[in-house]
Amino acid sequence: MRATRSHERNTGGLGPRVVVAGRPGAGKGTQGARLARCLDVQYLSTGDLLRHEIAIESPLGSAVERLVAAGRLVPTGLIVAIVETNLVDGGYVLDGFPRTVEQAEALFNRQALAPTLAIEIVVPAHIALARLTGRGRRDDDSTVASERLVIYETDTVPALDLLDRRGLLVRVDGNDSPDAVEQGVLRALVRACPPRDGSSLSSARVVPFSRDNSARLVADREYAGE
Ligand code: AP5
Ligand code: MG
Repeated sequence: MRATRSHERNTGGLGPRVVVAGRPGAGKGTQGARLARCLDVQYLSTGDLLRHEIAIESPLGSAVERLVAAGRLVPTGLIVAIVETNLVDGGYVLDGFPRTVEQAEALFNRQALAPTLAIEIVVPAHIALARLTGRGRRDDDSTVASERLVIYETDTVPALDLLDRRGLLVRVDGNDSPDAVEQGVLRALVRACPPRDGSSLSSARVVPFSRDNSARLVADREYAGE
């Protein structure tokens, strides 16, 4: 049983639409890509998209290069247009969006794009900072990384509060190995999307795929209920 099957029960068949949030360095990219493989949906990282545009020196890339290098958010209208242009049908794992209340409202205003779940990967700021400064991306020097962490508190936490008020937010401990965090993410997904038939979730387990060490959900008879 793939994770999508239990999740789709609650999404009207449009596919799971999962926002992965967390401080810079929390592991959104690491976990988001794994989760998208597991759910078999599109993985979209706004940061990756912007860095790609910068790398190919497109007009969009030129317009945002200085902001991204300084760790500042790019304008909402621009990032909303990028997300709308790049999302395909069938569900998503969205990494790095929404990052402000305005962006969250924009996502909810487009019904087909509204998230069905948001997972915040929680790591302490000093752990996040240590991960970033050990990585070496252009916006990872300690001054810019610190600025990104501050912007997360001032701009993104209120957006997560909005998701929380709508009952969509679950939190997962990100201060563990990538594999352990992945297990936590998948368990949170199962807990957040119980089957409508009321069957028990106690038997949901997460097992590794054989090839890429990603994971999938399995369920015994009680959970599958079919
Ligand atoms: P973005 O690319 O989204 O950067 P970020 O939010 O700062 O997050 P990172 O990508 O640095 O970290 P992550 O949480 O993905 O962690 P990762 O898995 O890489 O955005 C960049 C910029 O683009 C923004 O500053 C802004 O300018 C612009 N932008 C993007 N979206 C925007 C929006 N919506 N609106 C406006 N502007 C926007 O892991 C980090 C490191 O830790 C890696 O080296 C990884 O290998 C390691 N690691 C991961 N997990 C673990 C673990 N469990 N244990 C140990 N190490 C780990
Ligand atoms: Mg990332």
